[in-house]
Amino acid sequence: MKRVDDFRLKFGKKEYVPIMIGGMGVDISTAELALEAARLGGIGHISDAMISDVSDRRFDTSFVKEKTRLYKYNIDNSDKSSIKFDLGEVAEATKRHVGATMTAKKGEGLVFVNCMEKLTMNAPRETLQVRMTAALDAGIDGITLSAGLHLGSFGLMADHPRFRDAKLGIIVSSVRALQLFLRKNARLNRYPDFVVVEGPLAGGHLGFGMDWAQYDLATICAEVITFLKTEQLDIPVIAAGGIFTGSDAVSFLEGGSAAVQVATRFTVANECGLTDKAKQEYFKASEEDIIVNTISPTGYPMRMLKSTPAIGSGIRPGCESYGYLLDGNGGCAYITAYNREVLLNPDLKTLKVMDKTCLCTHMRNYNCWTCGSTTYRLKDTTTRLADGSYQQLSAEHIFKDYQYSVDNKVALPT
Ligand SMILES: Cc1cc2nc3c(=O)[nH]c(=O)nc-3n(C[C@H](O)[C@H](O)[C@H](O)COP(=O)(O)O)c2cc1C
Repeated sequence: MKRVDDFRLKFGKKEYVPIMIGGMGVDISTAELALEAARLGGIGHISDAMISDVSDRRFDTSFVKEKTRLYKYNIDNSDKSSIKFDLGEVAEATKRHVGATMTAKKGEGLVFVNCMEKLTMNAPRETLQVRMTAALDAGIDGITLSAGLHLGSFGLMADHPRFRDAKLGIIVSSVRALQLFLRKNARLNRYPDFVVVEGPLAGGHLGFGMDWAQYDLATICAEVITFLKTEQLDIPVIAAGGIFTGSDAVSFLEGGSAAVQVATRFTVANECGLTDKAKQEYFKASEEDIIVNTISPTGYPMRMLKSTPAIGSGIRPGCESYGYLLDGNGGCAYITAYNREVLLNPDLKTLKVMDKTCLCTHMRNYNCWTCGSTTYRLKDTTTRLADGSYQQLSAEHIFKDYQYSVDNKVALPT
C-alpha cells in the first residue's frame, strides 16, 4: 500500500515531499506555518493579503494607522474613490513580510506567496504588479496566483530578473480557465511551473458558482492532466480541496497529480494564525455548520462556519484603514449594501447587513471563519482535554500524518 512519501514533486532536478500547504489570508497561513512545511521538505505558503496590516502586526510598522489618519476626513463619505494605496508602502510591507520569512527558512522545501487577483486595492494592475515584484525582490521561492483568471499577471512581472527562475503557478478550477491563461500568456514564452487544480470542497473563495456541488475535483484534475498531455506540456498538477487523509492524497498522486495542496487540517495547528477561539469553533463544527454563501464582496461564493461573526454584521465600511477590495473606481459590493441599509433604516444605531460583509475588517479581526468542507472531521484528528476543549496540533504532526499514513487513518497526537 502506497503512502504520500513514496512520491516526489519534481521541479527541474529538485525533488520535494508532494505536500503543499495552501495560502490562507489574512495571515492564517503564517510565516511559522509555511516555514514548517519548508523545513519538512514540502512547500508552504504565506499570503500577501492585507500586507500592510500583516507588516504592522509582525514588524511594528504603522502603515494602517497612518493610512487611517490620512483618509479620516472621508469616513462618512460613501464615495471611496479617493482612497489609494501608496505603492512604495505596499512594496515595503511585502518586502518585510517575505524577506523575514525567507531569512528564517530552513530545510530543503520552498516557501511561496499566495497572490489573489481579487484584492484589487483601488488600482488593480499597479498594486498587483508591486505585490508580485516586491515578493520576487525579497527572494520568495515562488508565487501562486489565485482568486482570478490572472490573464495579465505574468506580463506584469515579465521584466523582473527573476521572472524565469522563480516558480510561478496558478490556481484554476476548470480546464477552460487554464486554457485561457495559457493562450493569453503564449507571447511571453513562459509556462507556469505548476498548476493547482482547486475543486469545490476547498476553503476560502470558490472558483465555482452556487452550483459548486455539481463539480468534482478528481474529474477536473483528470481533464487538466489529459489536456496538458495532449499539448505535450510537462507541468505538474497539484490537486486541492477536500483531501483529508494521506490515503486521499495518494489516490490523487496515483491518478497523475504531482502533489496535493491542503489547508483545512492545518487551520487547527499551533502555527496557524487563527485565534484559539476560532480554532475551537473549527474543531466543534458539525457538517451542518459548514455553509457556502455569497456574502463576500468579491462575487465568489465562500465557504465558512455558520457561526461566523461576520455574517449579518453591519459595521461601517473600513476602507479608510483597509480598502483592499475597492475595485479601481472606489466601489465594493459591501459599500453598496451598507448604504442601502443606512437609507432604509436611518434611525437604527446597529445595522444588519445580510447579503454582503466588510471582508477586510472581518478577515483582519479573524471574524470570518472560512473553512473547507471537511472541517467537521477535525475533531477526529485530536484528543479532548480535561476542560472539554480540543487539543491543538503541531504543523509537523499534521504534515507527517499526510506524509506517512495509510488506510485512511489519522494519527492522534501523543
Ligand atoms: C481558512 C482558509 C483560508 C483560505 N484562504 C485562501 C486564500 O487567501 N487564497 C487562496 O488562494 N486560497 C485560500 N484558501 C484555500 C486553500 O489555500 C486550499 O487550496 C484549499 O483550502 C485546500 O482544500 P482543503 O482546505 O480541503 O485542504 C483558504 C482555505 C482555508 C481553509
